[in-house]
Amino acid sequence: MKKPIRVAVTGAAGQIGYALLFRIASGAMFGPDQPVILHLLEVPVDKVMAALNGVAMELDDCAFPLLHGIVPTSSPEQGFGDVNWALLVGAKPRGPGMERADLLKDNGKIFIGQGLVIDRVAAADARIAVVGNPANTNCMIAASQAKRLPSDRFTAMVRLDQNRAATQLAKKAGVQVKDVSDVFIVGNHSPTMFSAFHLAKINGKPVPQVIGHVEWLKGELQETVGKRGAAVIAARGSSSAASAANALVDHVRDLVTPGAISSVAVKSNGEYGFDADVWAGMPVKTIAPGQYEVIKGLAIDEFAKTKIAATNKELLDERNTVKDMLK
Ligand code: NAD
Ligand code: LMR
Repeated sequence: MKKPIRVAVTGAAGQIGYALLFRIASGAMFGPDQPVILHLLEVPVDKVMAALNGVAMELDDCAFPLLHGIVPTSSPEQGFGDVNWALLVGAKPRGPGMERADLLKDNGKIFIGQGLVIDRVAAADARIAVVGNPANTNCMIAASQAKRLPSDRFTAMVRLDQNRAATQLAKKAGVQVKDVSDVFIVGNHSPTMFSAFHLAKINGKPVPQVIGHVEWLKGELQETVGKRGAAVIAARGSSSAASAANALVDHVRDLVTPGAISSVAVKSNGEYGFDADVWAGMPVKTIAPGQYEVIKGLAIDEFAKTKIAATNKELLDERNTVKDMLK
């Protein structure tokens, strides 16, 4: 049995937290031989801490063999102390009629404080995954506070969008999701994201060749994936939770699995036409547990260039909105 790793989850008493913690404790994120100690961080509000205590009781009641400890807390120092992974979920979700960027003013400041504390007290090998919206820019804010931890340790989640696109492509082609590969989400976790259909494959063949309906790939697919979060909010009355938790399991599991290829929002170094320093969804390959590289040299046609320019502009606009929060 390996030595336990410490994993912080913020917003642990929230919707996503409830769908996430049990998956981590069962081994779905870090594997069946990796024990975990869960640090559950919440806001210091009695009602919320009581709910968090209930979640901790339920985790106990599952008797997960891999769960070697639970640290429920409202102290960021304790929450992030010595953690190897910090999963930053805790933030306000949007409601009907809002865009994710509308959350920036409220949520952005959470990531200033958390970025600072993580940099100070987390383990030397700490890695951070941001889910709280708007995820790309919140990740940039947190990373900008860090002086000890390098920026490439900070990733944001576009995996839910990748999973959504994979299912839409499978349904359109009449195949199973397992037959779809190389689905990359490029840019922001927002309606401007680009589902790079021209790189995706079905049973190893290019998607445009298999599906043939290029107008659907350029139009309806982009629209459906880009606005799926709003569609879920309209249907459920609250934002996606189980699918978001599942996507985070996928995001982290692929980042700790050498050879895995997935879409991850990472700090741009100018790849694919993104401005340096925005956090953009990119095709990523894991080279060692927790270490990845952006896959370079994939074909970018004129349509892709236009879509990337639009999502890059939105990321720059968001960066401009929060410029006072960046260090
Ligand atoms: P929720 O309201 O159910 O839960 C959020 C929890 O975070 C609450 O319990 C709250 O008390 C806690 N919280 C707030 N500020 C905190 C802080 N500073 N420290 C610790 N905890 C804090 O919301 P949810 O449905 O779980 O969604 C959480 C976030 O995830 C939202 O911003 C939502 O928009 C986002 N989200 C992102 C994706 C994605 O694909 N990136 C998908 C779904 C949801
Ligand atoms: C999603 O994509 O489901 C989440 O980002 C929640 C939202 O606000 O859309």
